[in-house]
This record gives sequence, structure tokens and C-alpha cells, in this order.
Amino acid sequence: MTAEFPAARPRRLRRTPAMRRMVTSTRLHPAELIMPAFVKEGIAEPQQVGSMPGVVQHTRDSLRKAVHEAAEAGVGGVMLFGIPAVKDSRGSAADDPEGITQRALRDVVAEVGDALVVMADTCLDEVTDHGHCGILTPEGEVDNDATLERYVSMAVAQARAGSQMISPSGMMDGQVGAIRAGLDAAGFSQLPIMAYAAKYASAFFGPFRDAVETPKDFGDRKAYQQDPAGPRGEALREVRLDLAEGADIVMVKPALAYLDILREVRDTVEVPVAAYQVSGEYAMIEAAAANGWIDRDRAIMESLVAIRRAGADLILTYWATEVARRI
Ligand code: PBG
Repeated sequence: MTAEFPAARPRRLRRTPAMRRMVTSTRLHPAELIMPAFVKEGIAEPQQVGSMPGVVQHTRDSLRKAVHEAAEAGVGGVMLFGIPAVKDSRGSAADDPEGITQRALRDVVAEVGDALVVMADTCLDEVTDHGHCGILTPEGEVDNDATLERYVSMAVAQARAGSQMISPSGMMDGQVGAIRAGLDAAGFSQLPIMAYAAKYASAFFGPFRDAVETPKDFGDRKAYQQDPAGPRGEALREVRLDLAEGADIVMVKPALAYLDILREVRDTVEVPVAAYQVSGEYAMIEAAAANGWIDRDRAIMESLVAIRRAGADLILTYWATEVARRI
């Protein structure tokens, strides 16, 4: 039997900063943060992303510097998104050894070595002119199996450019297995895969479209990303399939609106679980704070603690370097 009031007074453990600090259960560490970063081909100066105040499309030089700073702050990893100067229907830049992502990977690896884990998004939406995550059929549907071939070629190009982890995010069926086989055949059996396993067709990806210059009229991703109100077991099914296909880390995305899914996944799998605090989550806090409506720093920390507490071992966040310095 636990005591009841007045013997029980939970406030005793909350009275002083030292007491609260000692009994803390959820702590953040810089090494579990991954910084997403955008790099655009052919620009002379970094460009502000309008809907993500404080986030830029980097030049190759400014990216090197930003990753250097992240490494110095102790951030665990960096996830690159390359925006090519020219996009086409098959995303030719994706597996071109001289494509912007491959160049940026080589730059960054040369800059930081293995001070942090360097990786890039393995998906086609940043490099296709239509903005979808795959190859389209004549009817305009994303062709799953034709897209897999492109993902494999892209993953191998990224591996050859020095990527230290492959991170498929396109939600095609069989993508992890295809990429695993392709990497192994190309001599990269040591390279881990972090799979965007449970990824929802989310309005919270909105500002990201600005960041990677997705055409405004591209439609939506509902035919491949999960329905937020979809079948109750769908997230776990996606996670199970990705693990069976060889995923080393699984991800839930977005984070804050999917904390229940995150907890469910964490309680079910044995591998590390990542969560992506996406562009819209970032923009909401920055916008409210800019209006003086919330305390920016506290809101950032509270959101990250919530994601951690729900079960994330790794968190992708645009605030990675700033938060790593603060904690
Ligand atoms: C796919 C990808 C997206 C994001 C990361 N990888 C867009 C999408 O899946 O629709 C979104 C990240 C964010 O919103 O911060 N390449």
C-alpha cells in the first residue's frame, strides 16, 4: 500500500532545482540528436527557407561549416537533403556521382570524418520535377517496383560518396530489402540502414516542400505514405516488414502527433527507434514564439523531452546544434 495524503506529498520532490534535477527520468544527450540539413546546387550564398526561420538551403561551403559546428556541439549525426539545379522525371541527380548530394557527402565526410554519422535522405522527391517520391506510370501513379531500382542505384551512389548510413524514406513496399541486397552486392554489407518505417501523409511536412522546392501543384503522397487515421496495426506492420528486410534502425515520422505510435514501436522492437521532429513542428514553435505567444526555448525542450519520453532513442531535429549546445 502506498501512502495517501497527508503522508504522501508528491510536491516534496519538486520543491528545488537540485531535487528536480536529481529525480529526472528523461534526459537528452547531444549524441542522440541528428541534424537534417539542406544543400542546394549552384547558389553563391545560403538562402533562407521562408517557412522555416533559422533554416537555410546551404551552399557546399556553408554546409561544411554547419556540419563542423554540429560535430563540435556533439550532435550524433547529420542527414543531408540535396536540391539539384535541374530536376527531371526520373530524378537523374539521385545516382549521378557528381549529383549535389554525392558531392555534399564527400565534402562533409572530408570535413568531419567520423566525428558524427554522415548520411543523406534516400528518396526521389528532392530530385524529380513532379515532386513525387518515385517514378510515375503514364497514368500518374507512383510505380513501386520501377522506383525500387532507382532507390538501389541512389543508395549505392551515396555509399560510394562516403555515406555512413542509408536512410530510405519513400515508403515504397520492399524498399529496405531491395536496398539491402543492392548495397551488399556492391560491397557495402557493413553499411547500416535507418528505415523511415512508419511515415504518415502529414500536413506537418508543409515547410519541407519550400526547403526542397517541391512544385506547388504536385498533389499529395496519400497513395504511399500512411493515412493518419489508417488501420490500427499498420505502423507495426510496416516496422515488422522493414526489420525482416534488414533495417538496423526504424523511424516514426512525424513525431509530436504520433507519440502513441512511437511508444508502441519502442515497446515492440529490439533495434534503436528514431523519431523525426519535422519541418511543420519546427515552424509552429518558431512562428508562435516570434509572435510572443510561447516561450521558444522551453517549448523546444518540452517537445524534445516528450519525443524522448515516448520512446525515441534518436531524434532528428532542425534545432540539433542549438539544443546540443544548451544541454
Ligand atoms: C522524403 C522526406 C520528406 C521529409 C523528409 N524526407 C517529405 C515527405 O516525405 O513528404 C519531410 C521532413 C520534414 O518535413 O521536415 N524525401
